[in-house]
Amino acid sequence: MGFNDDVKAAAETIAAAETITIISHIDADGIASEAILSQAISRLEITCRSVFVRQLEPLTIPQVPSDSSFKIFADLGAGQQNLLHDRGLPEKDVLIIDHHVSQPCEREYRQVNCLPHGHAKMSAAGVAYLVAKALDPANLDLAKTAVIGNVGDMMARETCGLTGMVRDVIVEDGARHRNVEVRRRDLNCYGTATRPVYLSLAYNDDPFIKGISNNPEGAKQFLRNLGIRQQAGDGRWLVWDELPQEDKKTIISALAEQLMAHGEPTDRLLAETYHFPDELVRTPLRNAQEYATLLNACGRWAKPQVGSAILKGDRGSAYRDAEHMLSNHRAIIRDLLNYILDTGVKVLDSVQYIHVGTRYPDTIVGIGAGMALSKLDSTKPILIMCTVPEDENLTKVSMRTTERVVRRGIDLQKAISDASAEYGGGGGGHKIAAGAYIPKTAEEEFVIRVNRILKEQFGAAGTGNR
Ligand code: C5P
Ligand code: C5P
Repeated sequence: MGFNDDVKAAAETIAAAETITIISHIDADGIASEAILSQAISRLEITCRSVFVRQLEPLTIPQVPSDSSFKIFADLGAGQQNLLHDRGLPEKDVLIIDHHVSQPCEREYRQVNCLPHGHAKMSAAGVAYLVAKALDPANLDLAKTAVIGNVGDMMARETCGLTGMVRDVIVEDGARHRNVEVRRRDLNCYGTATRPVYLSLAYNDDPFIKGISNNPEGAKQFLRNLGIRQQAGDGRWLVWDELPQEDKKTIISALAEQLMAHGEPTDRLLAETYHFPDELVRTPLRNAQEYATLLNACGRWAKPQVGSAILKGDRGSAYRDAEHMLSNHRAIIRDLLNYILDTGVKVLDSVQYIHVGTRYPDTIVGIGAGMALSKLDSTKPILIMCTVPEDENLTKVSMRTTERVVRRGIDLQKAISDASAEYGGGGGGHKIAAGAYIPKTAEEEFVIRVNRILKEQFGAAGTGNR
């Protein structure tokens, strides 16, 4: 069956259910997937409730209710079908909506997964949206949420914009519904709705611009030299979205010149970006990247339901809660990034690693590792470990690498799931980003094992061990 057939079959199964439980992941894509599905299902007047888990693993599986409701696993499940089997879930009661690599299982659950159909740049929220649209073509308003989920899962990063079916179908639906505004050639920069322009420029290192990236004072002076008005009459710093078109053009041209002067390519300076005209200006809800960070802040700090409520339109107490979590999230991620850079990573042939103990929660270490990688030697994948708060005998591992290294033959999902299985743990994810839980006692051997597997992967691809 083709992908569209799977989507259609999934919609038919959902429409036939009496009561549904959605089990979803706590990150931006998981929250977006849940919000899309629960709205589409409620609109059919089917009773639906949601459970969020940080991951499907032995410690969290009891959170999956053992009642007679139909279970939809969203943004997880494909890689953990054995756990569903062990939990005794019958095939007829389960649907997996996912974009992760599948693990073989003796019981084959129904699944709609974009990955085996070649849609590698689609997240679970993308799949959830296609199912919602198959349930009712009037669900076009939910395309916006799918855009947020996809951007949150970095589907726009490599290609400086969403691509493939996500771009052609989902973004177009959002644009048609007029709650998504597409800017085809905008500055490729985070924080355009909320950060002072000079800080947006200074915090950006993709592309790295000498004198501006990592240099707030340099960025401020650069804008001053261009004659850009950076502050409003009352002294408030202007954000990128507020600048007049002329000023934006001046800045982009000057940044391009700066890159060229240092012999750097300019191809990552511009990106297609996604904005939400139905949201208040100068708030993190105004564009897909910042909205996704807000959802991550909710989910990774144990309040995914708050993120879901915001996606469903709550702008009262849920939004105030989320703003608070967002500033906390940002501060801790910054702290974690500095901790990794100050402490330094241990470097083996094919991996660099660090253990952060109990300092940071298992839900955010992967994000910090991903950010640190762009400031370290990004030719080697990074592995970060931390203690799981609920069980100190358990260690959470997160790994991140870059598209360039993936093209050289590295597959973190395979490395981490093979290595963790050898030590009685379990993991999964993607070639570029993966995670696992392993017994604490296995930490040292595990890192050595992962290093060896990665070395073999580099070797098999004929690219040496680096
Ligand atoms: O937790 P982290 O952000 O590092 O997760 C990276 C990727 O690995 C995600 O796609 C996540 O779903 C996946 N993962 C997994 N099994 C785990 C931990 C993470 O499949 N035990
Ligand atoms: O479970 P899930 O797939 O949603 O987790 C995705 C994680 O993988 C996110 O933390 C995201 O930052 C990371 N990722 C990445 N680069 C990609 C795709 C995903 O760092 N190209």
